[in-house]
Amino acid sequence: MCGIFGVTGDSRTTELLIKGLKRMEYRGYDSSGICLVNGKRLIRKRAVGPLSNLEPLVEDLPNSECGIAHTRWATHGAPTKENAHPHFSKDSKIAVVHNGIIENEVELRKKIKLLDDGIAFESETDSELIAHLLLIEFENSEIDIKNAKEEEILSCWKLVLDKLEGSFALAVVINGRNDFILFARKFAPLIISHDGERGILASDVSCVVGLTEEVFYLNEGDWGILTNSEVQIFNVDGEFVEAEAKKLEWKLGEAELGGYPTFMLKEIYEQPRVVRDCLRGRLSRDKIKGFSIPFNPRLLRIVGCGTAYNAGLLARYYIEQLSKIPVILDHAHEFRYGAPSGPKSLVIGISQSGETADTLAAIEAAQERGYPTLGIVNVESSTIARNVDSLLGIRAGPEIGVASTKAFTGQVLGGLLVAMKLGQLSKTFHREDLSYFDRHARMLPTSMERMLNDQNIKTKLWEAQQYFIDKNHAFFLGRNTSYPIALEGALKLKEISYIHAEGYAGGELKHGPLALVEEGTPIIVIASEGSSHKKLLGNAREVAARGAKVIFITHQEDDLADSHADLVIKVPRTHDLLQPLLYNIICQLLSLNIAEERGCNVDRPRNLAKSVTVE
Ligand code: G6P
Repeated sequence: MCGIFGVTGDSRTTELLIKGLKRMEYRGYDSSGICLVNGKRLIRKRAVGPLSNLEPLVEDLPNSECGIAHTRWATHGAPTKENAHPHFSKDSKIAVVHNGIIENEVELRKKIKLLDDGIAFESETDSELIAHLLLIEFENSEIDIKNAKEEEILSCWKLVLDKLEGSFALAVVINGRNDFILFARKFAPLIISHDGERGILASDVSCVVGLTEEVFYLNEGDWGILTNSEVQIFNVDGEFVEAEAKKLEWKLGEAELGGYPTFMLKEIYEQPRVVRDCLRGRLSRDKIKGFSIPFNPRLLRIVGCGTAYNAGLLARYYIEQLSKIPVILDHAHEFRYGAPSGPKSLVIGISQSGETADTLAAIEAAQERGYPTLGIVNVESSTIARNVDSLLGIRAGPEIGVASTKAFTGQVLGGLLVAMKLGQLSKTFHREDLSYFDRHARMLPTSMERMLNDQNIKTKLWEAQQYFIDKNHAFFLGRNTSYPIALEGALKLKEISYIHAEGYAGGELKHGPLALVEEGTPIIVIASEGSSHKKLLGNAREVAARGAKVIFITHQEDDLADSHADLVIKVPRTHDLLQPLLYNIICQLLSLNIAEERGCNVDRPRNLAKSVTVE
C-alpha cells in the first residue's frame, strides 16, 4: 500500500526522504515521488516504477530542510507520473501525499469546481483535491500563507479534514514554509518522531528504525503540525493531545538482510527463533500464562485476511479440539459488514501488521457490538494491538517479505496458546496434556533447525521443484489440521511464483477440482493425523490414477506415504498439534525455490502489498 515519509529540520532532507522510501519499498508500490520546500518554490520529482527510476532525478536537487515523499500503490487511476504523489494545488503552492481513500471524492471535486473554476485537476486521484481544498481555505480566510501564524494554518487544515470522508494518512507542505509539515490520520497508519531538532513522519515504524528511538503513535482522527522544534497533536474534537513518545520495539539489524539474499529466505530461517520467543514466558508444564483472555466465551469468532486467515483456520481446529468451544472463522472483510449473530462472543483478530484495514474495521465492528476482543498481532505498537481488549504479541520481529512466512508460525502458536488456555478453563485440556505438549514444544526449534539444514530435504525440494517446470496450475490437499497448510501452501505459491494454485480439503477433491487434474499436474498432499491421514492417501491414489505428479509432505515415522507418491518429503516427527508448522516450512521453501527458478522477485511480488491499509 502507499507509504508516506516526511522530514523537517534537517539539511539532508533529500537523502533522508530517499532512505525512507527505500525502507518502505517492501510495502509494495508502483510509483514514487518527493517534494522539497525550497526558498521560492516547491520542487517535485516523480517517477513510475522502482525507486531506482526516481533516484537519478533527485541527485542534484538544492538543499532543503523540509520535504515529503510517497510510494504509491494505485487505487484511483493508473500508475502514471501524473497520478504519482505528491500532488499540487493550483499554482503549486501546496503539496500533499496521501494513503487511503477519500470516499466523498466526487462530491468534493464538484464543490471545488464551484468554488474556483480556475482549478484544473492534473491527476485522476482522490488525493489531489486535498491540496486544492486547503488552498481554498487559505484564500477564504484571506491569510498570507508565507507569513501566517501556526494557529491560522491549523484552523484551515482542520476545516479541510472535517470535509473528508473515508480513510487517510496525510502529510502536507506549503511553498515558502520550510518550517513545518501538516499531518492527519484516520483509519490509515501514521507515526511521528521528534528529537527536538528534527521531525520525521512515516506510515511505518520499520522506516524510522535507526533514525529515531522513540515515536508518537497517533490515534484515529489525530491531526496536527510537525515543526522544526516540536510536534503538536490534536484530536478529532480539536483538543490538544498530550502524547507520550514510546520506545521503538525493533532494532535496525532486524529489518535488514543480514547476509541472506532475500528477506523471504531470512524470515523462513528465523522461524526456530520465532517459536522460542513466542512461547517464552507463556508455556510451562502446568500453565499457560503471560496473556489474558478478556471473557469466558461460549462462542468464538476469528477474523483475519490472507495468511492470517489461514492461521485463524488452524486456530479454529485447535480451539474446537482442545476446548470444545465452537468457533466461527470469517475473512475480516466479510465479518465487518455481516449482521451480528449468536451469543456474545470473544472476537479474535489475527494480523501481522496490525494495520490491515479490514481486520481493524472488523475489530471495531465487534467492539461496537459490545464483543470483547483479543488480538494476535506481530507489530505491538500497531493500531489493532492498541485497540484490542487483550493482546497476544507473537514476537516474530519485523517481517519485510510481502508474502508472510514467519508471522504465520507465530500466529498459529498464538492460536494454540489461546486454545490450550481455553481448554484449561473448560477443563477439557488437562495438566498431563500440557506437560506432554510442553516437552515437544521445547524441542520444536531444534527440529526446525535440523530440518532447515537437512541436505536430504534440500535435494528432495529440488526434485519436487522439477515437477513445476512449465506448469501453470497446482493443487495442495490436506485434511483437518493440514487443510489450513494446504491453503497457505497454495497462497504462498501463487503469491510469489504466479503459478495458479488452489488449496483444497481432500474431501472436496471429487466435488470439482478432480476435473482439472491431468497428466503431470503437480499435487502437493500434506499429511494429517489420525484416520484422516488414510483418507488423504486415498486422495493421492485418485489423483495419481489421473496422471498427476504427487508430492507427499509427511513426517519421518510415516511409512504409508512412500507407496502413494512420486516424491515424499519427510520432516522430523513432533507433537500432532505442532506438526503442521513443519509441513508449512516445506511449502514455503518449495514456493521460494520455484519462484526463484522462474526469475520472480520473492520479496516484492507484482501487484501485492505487505500491509493492505485500504479496503
Ligand atoms: C497482505 C499480505 C499478506 C498478509 C495479509 C494480511 O495481503 O500480502 O502476506 O497475510 O495482507 O496482513 P496482516 O498484516 O493483517 O497479517
